[in-house]
Amino acid sequence: MIEFPSAFAKPRPALTDGFCRRISYLRVSVTDRCDFRCTYCMSERVRFLPRKDVLSLEELDRLCSVFVALGVTKLRVTGGEPLVRRDILQFFRAMSRHLDSGALGELTLTTNGSQLARHAAELAACGVRRVNVSLDTLDAARFEGLTRRGRLAPVLEGIGAARAAGLRVKINTVALKGFTEDELFPLVEWCGAEGHDLTFIEIMPFGEDGPEGRIDRFWPLTDLRARLARRFTLQPLAQSTGGPARYVRLAETGQKIGLITPLSHNFCEGCNRVRLTCTGELYPCLGQDGTSDLRAVLRATADDRALEQAIRAAIARKPRGHDFDHSCGTADGAMRRGMNHTGG
Ligand code: GTP
Ligand code: 5AD
Ligand code: SF4
Repeated sequence: MIEFPSAFAKPRPALTDGFCRRISYLRVSVTDRCDFRCTYCMSERVRFLPRKDVLSLEELDRLCSVFVALGVTKLRVTGGEPLVRRDILQFFRAMSRHLDSGALGELTLTTNGSQLARHAAELAACGVRRVNVSLDTLDAARFEGLTRRGRLAPVLEGIGAARAAGLRVKINTVALKGFTEDELFPLVEWCGAEGHDLTFIEIMPFGEDGPEGRIDRFWPLTDLRARLARRFTLQPLAQSTGGPARYVRLAETGQKIGLITPLSHNFCEGCNRVRLTCTGELYPCLGQDGTSDLRAVLRATADDRALEQAIRAAIARKPRGHDFDHSCGTADGAMRRGMNHTGG
């Protein structure tokens, strides 16, 4: 039986934006903090938000539960690094009631894997079935360089623990010019041998340092795909997880590879998602700045109908898509905020 928050005694109309896109996927960033400083994500001297601005677990629960009551069926917990937030497993436990009721179809997370070994079994017990782990290199020294302070071994241990707990693992790799070329086949082979899915992502122009550095590191997935095709027969697949990835199968190994191409192929027309930051801002689009302050509504009233109104109004303003464009050699459409603000 589906359990609705008290204000919602009956089912509500679907959340739909101005372009008739149905919103069924909420990505919720539970912290902007991270134990890594990936060079493409944040500056080394990043300043994190004061804790008082961050929603409490109870506030996050209330907000997410309203989204679920409004028809969100997929909830992805992100950060920063979600598993560095103390007591975050309490939030997963709380959200698992929406899986039990049938209202939520998937509860999942995107993580850097550094804390996964400690939490994998309990995440699985909360109903998490798969986890996306960001991993750009299998070389320990390069890993330390790219993440500035991360270590590869605990991440690999975390991935192993996730598999041992029965979770499916998807590796997310940002395609970086002058870097990923050397990692492409080792990563593909390792994921094939370990049974992990693998998705490559084009680097997007985000960050306080200014986006220029990110253009120099842009490696279009059209090139990556061509390089893959020199060694494997690529079979395009029609299937989708509801995410932006398009998939190809490597005929020789049977492996599925995902390609997320915000720059070389825009996928916004099929967008089904919105993003909530840890301060309660709702971003209807990752690639645009317009936000709505749900924290103010949350803290002003106990009436969930006010939240419903604010959410519907924000979604009605969801832009058609992002304006990222590197085609003229400039980082058009760039965002000053870091990816850790919205969780990718
Ligand atoms: P699956 O459920 O496995 O399909 O995951 P997902 O692709 O929705 O989530 P994941 O956290 O693995 O997303 C991978 C990356 O794709 C994100 O970190 C972003 O960099 C990028 N991405 C996801 N959604 C969008 C989007 O709506 N717009 C843009 N431009 N990029 C996105
Ligand atoms: N462009 C593309 N992906 C990025 N990520 C972080 N910063 C960027 C960027 N500028 C990815 C991380 C992780 C996900 C949450 O977002 O590697 O896989
Ligand atoms: Fe942390 Fe992920 Fe950003 Fe790396 S990309 S600094 S792991 S939030």
